[in-house]
Amino acid sequence: MKALILVGGFGTRLRPLTLTLPKPLVPFSNRPMIEIQIDALAKAGVTDVILAVNYRPDIMMAELEKFEKKYNIKIHFSVEQEPLGTAGPLALARDLLLKDPSPFFVLNSDIICPFPLSQMAEFHRQHGRAGTIAVTRVEDPSKYGVVVAHPHEPTLVERFVEKPSDFVSNRINAGIYILDISVLDRIELRPTSIEKEIFPSMASDNQLCCMDLEGYWMDVGQPADYLSGIGLHLAHMRDTEPASLATGPHIVGNVLIHPTATVAPDCLLGPNVTVGPNARIESGARIRDSALLDHAHVQAHARVAKSIVGWQSRVGRWARLDQVTVLGLDVQVSEEVFVNGARVLPHKTISDNVYEPSIIM
Ligand code: GDD
Ligand code: MG
Repeated sequence: MKALILVGGFGTRLRPLTLTLPKPLVPFSNRPMIEIQIDALAKAGVTDVILAVNYRPDIMMAELEKFEKKYNIKIHFSVEQEPLGTAGPLALARDLLLKDPSPFFVLNSDIICPFPLSQMAEFHRQHGRAGTIAVTRVEDPSKYGVVVAHPHEPTLVERFVEKPSDFVSNRINAGIYILDISVLDRIELRPTSIEKEIFPSMASDNQLCCMDLEGYWMDVGQPADYLSGIGLHLAHMRDTEPASLATGPHIVGNVLIHPTATVAPDCLLGPNVTVGPNARIESGARIRDSALLDHAHVQAHARVAKSIVGWQSRVGRWARLDQVTVLGLDVQVSEEVFVNGARVLPHKTISDNVYEPSIIM
């Protein structure tokens, strides 16, 4: 089978992390986000993965070549000269997608869930319409694509509305599709939104079905959602691979620690914490609901809550991060400083308290 992953866009909402790496390569639970998807696709029998890229393809290519061997798949790059939106990239990759007549998967690159792809392929085969989208339920559907099901056929999409301003339904597009190759005939090679143009027209032709996802789902393309997503993903790991999670008197709840990280025995970590490769956590530190990326360093007695500590960043002794603070690459937070809800751009030093959410440039 084939799959196309939409990896374009600038990842603006995940700045400052995306100033250093394109969004799909930002680590999530100690793996590049996109690796979680490639792993799931390979497990579902996908042999060819097309990456639809329009931004910094060079970095993506170097990193992703490694996955060809690791997951025994072929990765094709389809590089846009201008952003083609969420449907245009399918037209650009038309020849690759027409390699065989079987349907293909399409994934948004910033979503995580248990990826029930084989189940979705089977459902798609049985209903026989041109497309299937995975749907999930959320409390606030306004930032998503919303699906209204047919009154007499709950798996048939009657209406698809992208980011509605008025409430229509709380069943939303989870960003995972399986489409027949016939759908390619609906898409022209120009910037096109699959959500605003293609899905509404497929729905009015009764050619779009939906499958409810079970278990957790999150779009992790914004810092607060990234942190909620870590909690959900670790809880899923607790059920499926508990041995990967850390244990010990210094651990509370679900915590993932990379084997190369150094953690002082008298700190307290968790719940919902990921500690990346070569990170260092010193004595007496308290970390909860947070992610530490590669080579992050939390010094003695610092407290990190609901925050992301970027690559090579250092949180000084007795410092405090809270309320979705995100430190970019190589940020230094001085001793005793309190940082509340700041986004800090790479290579900055913070020597004064930041009380209100702000961007530090
Ligand atoms: N190749 C390419 N080119 N990819 C793109 C482009 C482009 O011009 N623009 C966006 N993408 C990719 C993004 O990288 C992401 O993987 C995906 O398309 C969706 O874009 P987002 O910017 O993350 O959209 P969203 O989160 O606001 O909304 C989408 O996802 C929701 C679920 O998380 C929509 O599909 C909604 O309907 C959906 O509910
Ligand atoms: Mg998104």
